[in-house]
Amino acid sequence: MHLTRVEEDMLMGRQGRGPQLAMEIIVKLGELYGADDLIPVSQAHIDGCLYAAVGEAGLLFAEKLDQLGAKVAIPTSLNATSCDVDNWREHGVDPAFAEKSSQLEKHYLNMGALPTWTCAPYHFGLVPRFGEQIAWAESNAIVYANSVIGARTERYGDYTDICCAITGRVPEFGLHKRENRAGQILIDCSFLDLKPTTENFAVLGYLAGEIAKDKIPVLKGIPSWVSRDHLKAFCAAIASSGAVALFHMTGITPEALDEKAAFQGRKPLEVYELSQKMLLEAEGTLSNICTCHVDAAVIGCPHASAAEILELARLMVNKRVKKNKQLWVYTSRSVYSWLSLKGTVDELKEKGVIFFRDTCFVNTSLGSWEFQNAATNSAKYAHYIPGRTGLNAVFANLERCIDMVAE
Ligand code: F3S
Repeated sequence: MHLTRVEEDMLMGRQGRGPQLAMEIIVKLGELYGADDLIPVSQAHIDGCLYAAVGEAGLLFAEKLDQLGAKVAIPTSLNATSCDVDNWREHGVDPAFAEKSSQLEKHYLNMGALPTWTCAPYHFGLVPRFGEQIAWAESNAIVYANSVIGARTERYGDYTDICCAITGRVPEFGLHKRENRAGQILIDCSFLDLKPTTENFAVLGYLAGEIAKDKIPVLKGIPSWVSRDHLKAFCAAIASSGAVALFHMTGITPEALDEKAAFQGRKPLEVYELSQKMLLEAEGTLSNICTCHVDAAVIGCPHASAAEILELARLMVNKRVKKNKQLWVYTSRSVYSWLSLKGTVDELKEKGVIFFRDTCFVNTSLGSWEFQNAATNSAKYAHYIPGRTGLNAVFANLERCIDMVAE
């Protein structure tokens, strides 16, 4: 692999042992993928800060880098962490678990990352531009950055993400190169009766991920009214059922002005025509019980936007959460603070809604909560709830989720 003088210095340890270790890992990654060069990236988003996912090994890795004096070389945001940093006690999180999570958080902060604690980093802050080379982890954010914004990232994950941030470099491979971003299969949505709801796009994303697997799908026939929140739900779902890091929607996403541009002039390997029946069947697979008897409704995967919480507030007018039921909302600190200033947060809290900042329902300690069945309007949550929490999941639109737990 060709390295510049600066990269060579880092690899030889002339900038310290921390950057050296990170560069060793990046070079090894490049060798594995046959990259000839490294390229600079302008920013990183780190997923390795999620203790529930990385466990002791992830904690030791971050501790080692921190002790070796590693610092991020580029602006770096942090994904959701394993509990609400300020309010974990009142959420009943196991103190020993919270302590481990806090140690991991501190190592990443010591290395210079920003305490953004969100899996929707594209809502605000370090939002990249079209064509920008970046190193993002967190599957929904990777798909959003590549597809909706048109920035360029590979599927970085725990451990490699922080190494990209410390070195400011990634191997030049995969989705960093234009020629690897061409669509591979065509999914025709022209015959679907799509509704302007996040749930409808979550189900479509889930179905598209099952079809695409690890290919780059091009979707045609998506209505022009599709919103950022619809696309967010689609991204989270397609990356849950499939190993998709990039999709194109003709006339909607920036690299797909038309079908020819999306496929870069090539022919699709396969063509699929979706029907309303296929969409309904995909929706059915997202619930593993057929009951409306749920203990809790959980909203905000990926972290709820201001618009989504305002919609929740509208649907909660004249309603409150029933006794012995829960309505939980997961969001970022930024969205929470805007809606606190507006009064929406207090309004919803008075009705029994509980807010969780920084964290994630399927990546935490549920401590003393004794749930069995949880409803959600997120395909990603529905996909992961049974495996990660042992609970049953019911997928429903926001209005139905509310009806199951409020009166
Ligand atoms: Fe975020 Fe957790 Fe969903 S990290 S994308 S809320 S599974």
